[in-house]
Amino acid sequence: MWVVVGQSGQLAQSLAGRSDMGKAQFMGRTQLDLANPEQAAARLRELQPNVVINAAAWTAVDQAEKDLDQARVLNADAPAALARVCRDLDIPFVHVSTDYVFSGEEGPAWKEDDPIAPVNAYGQTKAEGEAAVMSVGGRVAILRTSWVFSPFGNNFVKTMARLGKERDEVRVVADQVGRPTYAPDLAEACVRMADLLQKSPELAGIYHYANSEHVSWADVAQATFDELTSRGVKSARMVPITTADYPTPAKRPAWSTFDTSKIEALGIETPDWRARIGACV
Ligand SMILES: NC(=O)c1ccc[n+]([C@@H]2O[C@H](COP(=O)([O-])OP(=O)(O)OC[C@H]3O[C@@H](n4cnc5c(N)ncnc54)[C@H](OP(=O)(O)O)[C@@H]3O)[C@@H](O)[C@H]2O)c1
Repeated sequence: MWVVVGQSGQLAQSLAGRSDMGKAQFMGRTQLDLANPEQAAARLRELQPNVVINAAAWTAVDQAEKDLDQARVLNADAPAALARVCRDLDIPFVHVSTDYVFSGEEGPAWKEDDPIAPVNAYGQTKAEGEAAVMSVGGRVAILRTSWVFSPFGNNFVKTMARLGKERDEVRVVADQVGRPTYAPDLAEACVRMADLLQKSPELAGIYHYANSEHVSWADVAQATFDELTSRGVKSARMVPITTADYPTPAKRPAWSTFDTSKIEALGIETPDWRARIGACV
């Protein structure tokens, strides 16, 4: 039986929507609470899974600045505890990390073995999680992803679709660049990676996964507004602004673009994100 840790999140719901996940067990925080890593690990061991995908995390980026210790438990201690169970059972463990482990300094697209240097507390805890999970070893794949959107939960595209309808004008940051990722495409990558790890444990490691083409938040907002307009819905005008115009408690990396050639070499595709916007509007 496959176990997905997480139930209501974007990735968890995207996995739940797949026809091949009908027999998987989805563990929300009431069934398996990552805030208590040892209990969570014991619960996972009882289930005797043959694959585990960890779709759960502390994802409140700004809140992590204040609640660093709690974020660390969810993003580092708990994934390490789950990874130990999977290693002991000799089963694939697919874990998800983030572009926020990188510094955001502009340069070539980030490769998996580039040095990490998180600029905020969330990124720091995810980086610690990567190191902890990799040090456990076993059939583990860590998929770093970025700018996740989907029809589920809260995300930038859904917010823009709402604001686009409500307002005449929306100001959007234009000097942060990244690769948007459609959660159902990420779900496909997780499932394919788990299948591959079952047959080929030597594929264990870190991979970058995002949809194709790097763009700014302003580009994503404009694509969302264009989608509304194409459906005959009056949409707001997009006004590009700078990061300095939109202060947040946690600093965001300005340059977050991934090189995804390592995962693509396994036959896992990174489709165009623009084609996915319609599903969220
Ligand atoms: N969203 C992004 O833009 C983004 C970017 C880069 C990387 N990522 C990474 O991608 C992965 C999936 O993110 P997402 O966008 O799907 O997240 P999300 O929509 O914010 O969902 C978070 C998930 O974490 C679970 N969770 C939270 N606290 C928990 C706890 N104490 N115990 C157990 N589960 C708990 C939630 O459980 P319930 O089901 O019980 O609510 C939910 O399923 C995460 O590892 C995230 O760090 C996300």
